[in-house]
Amino acid sequence: MRHEVDFLVIGSGIAGLSYALKVAPYGKVCVLTKGDASEGSTKYAQGGIAAVMYGSDSFDNHIKDTLVAGDGICDREVVEMTIREAPERINELVQYGVNFDLNKNGRFDLHREGGHSEFRILHHKDNTGAEIERGLLQAIHDHPNIELKENQFAIDLITQHHLGQIVTKHTPDITCYGAYALNGDTHEIDTYLAKTTLLATGGMGNVYTTTTTPIISTGDGVAMVHRARGVLSDMEFVQFHPTSLYNPAEKPAFLITEALRGAGAILKDHKGNEFMQKYDERLSLAPRDIVARAIDNEMKMAGVEHLYLDARHINKHELITGFPTIYAKCLEIGINITKDMIPIRPAAHYQCGGIKVDRRGQSSIHNLYAAGECSCTGLHGGNRLASNSLLEAVVYAHNAAMDAIERVKVVDFKKEVPDWNADGMKLNEELVLITQTKKELQEIMSNYVGIVRSNLRLQRAFVRLNLIYRETEELYQRSVMTEELSELRNLIACSYLITKMAMARKENRGLHYSIDLL
Ligand code: FAD
Ligand code: SIN
Repeated sequence: MRHEVDFLVIGSGIAGLSYALKVAPYGKVCVLTKGDASEGSTKYAQGGIAAVMYGSDSFDNHIKDTLVAGDGICDREVVEMTIREAPERINELVQYGVNFDLNKNGRFDLHREGGHSEFRILHHKDNTGAEIERGLLQAIHDHPNIELKENQFAIDLITQHHLGQIVTKHTPDITCYGAYALNGDTHEIDTYLAKTTLLATGGMGNVYTTTTTPIISTGDGVAMVHRARGVLSDMEFVQFHPTSLYNPAEKPAFLITEALRGAGAILKDHKGNEFMQKYDERLSLAPRDIVARAIDNEMKMAGVEHLYLDARHINKHELITGFPTIYAKCLEIGINITKDMIPIRPAAHYQCGGIKVDRRGQSSIHNLYAAGECSCTGLHGGNRLASNSLLEAVVYAHNAAMDAIERVKVVDFKKEVPDWNADGMKLNEELVLITQTKKELQEIMSNYVGIVRSNLRLQRAFVRLNLIYRETEELYQRSVMTEELSELRNLIACSYLITKMAMARKENRGLHYSIDLL
C-alpha cells in the first residue's frame, strides 16, 4: 500500500511523540511503531529528567556536571542550549498532562543521581518514564491530525538509491523521500512517501547479552542511516549502567535506579565491604563509567557474577514509598530491600553515539531528522550524565519540529518512488539461522567490545563480525523480509560501527576504555 504524509515519525517513545505533538497543527502526521505504542526505553525510565527549575541550582552547575561526565568531548554550545531550554520543555510536558512528584510546598520534588552536584532530577516515584509515556500517548490519541500505527516495522529509508542512482557516503545531496515499512497485519511492505521524516527509534542495547533496554532496542534507525550512507558518530561510547538487578533468567535486566544511590544506598563487594573508595572520591555517586568499571573490576578480581547495593540503612518508609517499583520487583524474587542487600551487576543501558545531527536535529541526509537515543547531538560527549537523555529527547524533538514545520512548505512528495520489490524471495524456514547468529553476535560484543576493551579483543570481534555479516547478507538476499531478519541485520550493522569506531579511538575517553591505551 502507498501512503503520503507531511510528517513521518518512526518511533513512539518520548522523542517521537513529543515531536508529533509539535508538528501536528501543520500537516498530516503518521507515527509508525514496531510493537505496542508504549513499548520502548522511555517506558522503563526510572530516575527521571534533569533540569534546573529553581534558583537554588544554576544552569552553570548543570552545564559543568554534563561537561565533566562527558570527559572533555561534549559540544559545549549544545550542552548550554539543551540545559537552558530544559525548564521550557519540562513545562510543556506538564501541559501535555505528565505528572511529576511535588513536595509538601508544591514544588517539584528533586532527586540526585551520579555525577550531579545538585538535586535536580524531576521524577514520578521510580517510574518516571511510564508516566511520561502515558501522558504523551494520551495527548497523541486526543489529536485529530496524528495517526499512530502499531506493529509497523520500518525497514529502510527511501533515497535516490531506490530510484536507481548510485549513492555513496560522498554523494553530496542524499535525500530522504520516506520509508518502507513491514505491515505486521498484512505482512506486506508498505511505501510511505513523506515530505519530512523523523527517526526516533531509540537505542541498541540488544547488541549485548545483558541489557536494561527492551527487546525493541535493536538500533534500527542507526542501521537504516548507515545503509543510506548518512553520517554516524561516537558509536564507541556505549554506556553500561552499574546497577541492574542480578536475576540471570530475566530479559531485559531490571534496573535499580541510580536515584537509590542518590538516596544513600551504598555499593558493596561480594563480602559486603565498601569498595568505591579505591576508585573515586565521589564513591557510589561517581559518574557511571567509573562506577561500572569499578564493579567490573571487583567482579573479575573476585571471580563472582554480581556485587551488592545496600539500602538497608535508609528509612524504611522512604524506601518503600519513594521506590515502590523496585521494592515490589525485588520482593517478587525473594529480596526485601529493607532487610537484604540487592544483588547487582552492570548492563548495557544507553548508546551515546548515533545519527549525527545539528542543533535543529537535521541529519546529513536532506529532509531526515533524528531525535532521542538514536541521535548523536554532542550533548553527551564520551559519557552521558544520568537523566540527561529524556531531556535531550524533548529539546531536540522541539528543535527538529520547528525546522520541519518550515520545510514541509517547500518539499514535494517524490511520486516516482517504486514500491518494494520482493520478487523471487523465499520464506526462510530455518529461524535458527537468525536466533543462533544473534546469540553469537551478543557474545562477541559482550566479551570483546564491553566495558573494558583491548586491541586484540576488538580485532577478534571485527573478524568474527565480518563473517556473521557475510552469512546474514546472503540469507537476506534470498529471503522474504521479516522483522527478525531485519533486526539481526541492524544489530550487526551497529556492532560493526561500535567496534570500528572503538578501534579508531586512540585514547581512553569516557566510556571507551582499553587496557592498551593506559
Ligand atoms: P524509545 O523510548 O526507546 O522508543 C523507540 C521507539 O522506536 C519505540 O516506539 C519503538 O517501537 C520504535 N522503533 C524502533 N525501531 C523501529 C522500527 N524499525 N520501525 C518502527 N518503529 C521502531 N534516561 C533518562 O534521562 N532518565 C532516566 O531515568 C532513564 N532511565 C532509564 C531506565 C532504563 C531501564 C532504560 C533502558 C533507559 C533509561 N534512560 C533514562 C534512557 C532513556 O529512557 C532513553 O534514552 C529514552 O527513553 C529514549 O527515548 P526514545 O524516544 O529515543 O526511544
Ligand atoms: C537511573 O535511573 O539510574 C537511570 C537514569 C538514566 O539512565 O539516566
